[in-house]
Amino acid sequence: MLIKEKDFGTPASNIEATVTLEIDGESVTVPAGTSVMRAAAEMGTKVPKLCATDSLNSFGSCRLCLVEIEGRKGTPASCTTPVEAGMKVRTQTSRLAKLRRGVMELYISDHPLDCLTCAANGDCELQDMAGEVGLREVRYGYEGANHLTSEKDTSNPYFTFDPAKCIVCSRCVRACEEVQGTFALTIDGRGFASVVSAGQQDGFLDSECVSCGACVQACPTATLIENTVIESGQPEHSVLTTCAYCGVGCAFKAEMRGEEVVRMMPYKDGKANHGHSCVKGRFAWGYATHKERITKPMIRAKITDPWKEVSWEEAINHAAAEFKRIQKKYGNGAVGGITSSRCTNEETYLVQKMIRAAFGNNNVDTCARVCHSPTGYGLKTTFGTSAGTQDFDSVEAVDVALIIGANPTDAHPVFASRLKRRIREGARLIVIDPRRIDMVKTAHVEADYHLPLMPGTNVAMINALAHVIVTEGLVDDKYVAERCEPHDFQMWRDFVALPENSPEAVEQYTKVPAADVRAAARLYATGGNAAIYYGLGVTEHSQGSTMVMGMANLAMATGNIGRNGVGVNPLRGQNNVQGACDMGSFPHEFTGYRHVSDDATRRSFEEAWGVTLDAEPGLRIPNMLDSAVEGSFKGLYVQGEDIAQSDPNTQHVTAGLEAMECVVVQDIFLNETANYAHVFLPGSSFLEKDGTFTNAERRISLINKAMRPMAGYADWEVTMLLSKALGYPMNYTHPSEIMDEIARLTPTFKGVSFDRIRELESIQWPCNDAAPEGTPIMHIDRFVRGKGKFVVTAYVPTDERTGPRFPLILTTGRILSQYNVGAQTRRTDNIAWHPEDVLEIHPFDAENRGIRDGDVIALTSRVGETSLHAKISERMQPGVVYTTFHHAMTGANVVTTEYSDWATNCPEYKVTAVEVRLSNQKSEWQRGYEALREATRKVGVTAAE
Ligand code: SF4
Ligand code: SF4
Ligand code: SF4
Ligand code: FES
Repeated sequence: MLIKEKDFGTPASNIEATVTLEIDGESVTVPAGTSVMRAAAEMGTKVPKLCATDSLNSFGSCRLCLVEIEGRKGTPASCTTPVEAGMKVRTQTSRLAKLRRGVMELYISDHPLDCLTCAANGDCELQDMAGEVGLREVRYGYEGANHLTSEKDTSNPYFTFDPAKCIVCSRCVRACEEVQGTFALTIDGRGFASVVSAGQQDGFLDSECVSCGACVQACPTATLIENTVIESGQPEHSVLTTCAYCGVGCAFKAEMRGEEVVRMMPYKDGKANHGHSCVKGRFAWGYATHKERITKPMIRAKITDPWKEVSWEEAINHAAAEFKRIQKKYGNGAVGGITSSRCTNEETYLVQKMIRAAFGNNNVDTCARVCHSPTGYGLKTTFGTSAGTQDFDSVEAVDVALIIGANPTDAHPVFASRLKRRIREGARLIVIDPRRIDMVKTAHVEADYHLPLMPGTNVAMINALAHVIVTEGLVDDKYVAERCEPHDFQMWRDFVALPENSPEAVEQYTKVPAADVRAAARLYATGGNAAIYYGLGVTEHSQGSTMVMGMANLAMATGNIGRNGVGVNPLRGQNNVQGACDMGSFPHEFTGYRHVSDDATRRSFEEAWGVTLDAEPGLRIPNMLDSAVEGSFKGLYVQGEDIAQSDPNTQHVTAGLEAMECVVVQDIFLNETANYAHVFLPGSSFLEKDGTFTNAERRISLINKAMRPMAGYADWEVTMLLSKALGYPMNYTHPSEIMDEIARLTPTFKGVSFDRIRELESIQWPCNDAAPEGTPIMHIDRFVRGKGKFVVTAYVPTDERTGPRFPLILTTGRILSQYNVGAQTRRTDNIAWHPEDVLEIHPFDAENRGIRDGDVIALTSRVGETSLHAKISERMQPGVVYTTFHHAMTGANVVTTEYSDWATNCPEYKVTAVEVRLSNQKSEWQRGYEALREATRKVGVTAAE
């Protein structure tokens, strides 16, 4: 069955007071501010409508929803008329029926009558309304002026705009404004000449449009329609699931015909996205059935050998035998594994269980190491929990948003749309980022302060903000006295008050005018509910953990923790990076962040798993690679992760992989790491399995199987096969049983089960006896650790310094259309927006080097060199250059260094001293990469065909 959410016509009112009125003789009570249309819908009465939909504010243009109201003249539009106490409304009279038929007749007279062959047949509100009002004939012919020969716009790769079918209801324009916040569409012209226009009649692809699809979703006709619906026809059933891209965790309906996805439709009741999405989740799912998917297991003796397709049994037995051989020869600790933030909680849990129980060591780590591990450390130290404090809905109550080192319009687009809406409603905005990101100034949104600090000076900046708050008497003394450890606060206050932490003193490092820092600090401390939203621009530094604690200090000092509209909110990168951390993927922790050396915790796992577990933390990813280069680490199982592209200092990573005797890669594509693998196990996409993901709000949501695994097994089943072959059988018949085990062993997950998630639609942990429905906002009456802990955060400049050889700082990030290493998005039409990574450089730095827009440049650091095209951009500040890392050929991580966060080893991706010069050729690394790819890939693909 196709899940079709009810459309109430206008948004719900959030006014508490209620109003009672009468509609068609029946009494109904609704919140004040509700429209008559919605009140009717609440009691099950459908009023015909075209321009109204409940995701948009009412507009009142189509005149189809007319009603009669006792004592009022005429026939007001029910969508724009608010309810009043005692009102008596009639929605169905012969007069109304006649008027509505007249309106519909006019619409239909300028509409192609091709319903039976139209791609929207069966899913068209115009068609439905014509039926609903009983339109049987159209008196006007097609001889007069009409729009029926208007040209289609097919520039967007994912949807088509056919103006011949447009009824100019403005739903698309309003969706772009109100829901997405891009303001890419307008209605050009007046009256009969009115036409929807993207930009200045640019066509969708060349306009400001970011292809979020909100307009397509809002369109009541086939005017804006997904190309896949045109090609495949209307879906037959839908499966609720969760986006497998970023940490916003949008809920979707996978709308299907058989096992074929027809379209992904954001789920209106999705708690993280409320019916919105971005271009990735809505449109970039074609990779799931891409022809380059590897669906047969493969093995080879040496990485220079051709791949050989084998049976699952042979591949699994070979991998297990190799791991056992290595352990026998080199010791128990010579093997390990990496879990994936793209896989489900249940799959991640199984990989770490297999490593701890079957390998018998704690050599498990996860890709979260390279992004948000400082979040875990910093927030656990200060608040007691390794996760963000709020739900996304909390943004509705924010008065001051402080964005630090995050670029939400590109990396967390659905959250960005909500934040932009809140700013348009009047909330204030401070952006701390080296680049002039979109949030600094975009349509109808402008930051009050942009503090464009030099990369690597975050801690100096946070201390300066704290200095102003402490020395200008802006601390919330009552909150601090009641909620925080007094001694630690005293130490912190004395520290930040030192003159060396003043905005004037740190200006030498940050290069941000002290007056701006002072003004921003005052706004944060005194502007009402203040919330910090941050990203990898905070964590991926040598002082990443220090900075997380610095932000926590600031929030506690101003009383901005523990209620709606405030908090410290990490914007998580990958879909399940929170879950991967929660599931015990780190070498020192079991599920729920409990240390492996804790006897009681370890005993509970030993009893449940029937093995003796190691009390010593195992190796982190960088330690595994170092040990491999040194010769003591020889075997690695990597599930759904591409360290050869994503981790820093590529040459060191590949040297480590090359030194190993057995690398097992499990993925849906032959990724870069697979170039160094001896066993390849085909992975399964999120559409092919059941399980859960946990988003940035700690929200656990289900993914439900929409099609069978292309390779025969879901990832959790493959891990079970491998574990069994290693001599440690696991016998789950469904991922829900794995979650039941997680809940039994993890106090913060005690109340979580698939049934419970289904019932509540999603659950935010902690979910236990104290919070049976989960915890949207944490630390309300007390911090999880008891009293909040202030930590002194001395600024220590990174060892990565600029100098005459490398005078610029490179910082890296993401772009909207692509996702991480690009393995998925590069295999979709998203490539139209970002076919290659480019180096953004300020005009001043470019001119000094004789570089023009589009030139090929060499980008060199002390560890490596790569080459790419230059893009001259005023978004940069002089001295700082920027690139993305979505394309393997760019090799952005060929130049990033081995420096990392002091507490967690999270790599310092955001600060690399580089030089840029004109070049006309590929770098040596790129040439080597091409040769390797040629040698290993070609054979592999051939073998798989
Ligand atoms: S796809 Fe999104 S950004 Fe583009 S016009 Fe439609 S609503 Fe606006
Ligand atoms: S494109 Fe669709 S939503 Fe936009 S005005 Fe035309 S009919 Fe309405
Ligand atoms: S915002 Fe993130 S979770 Fe939502 S659709 Fe886009 S990529 Fe998916
Ligand atoms: S639905 Fe009310 S005027 Fe269009």
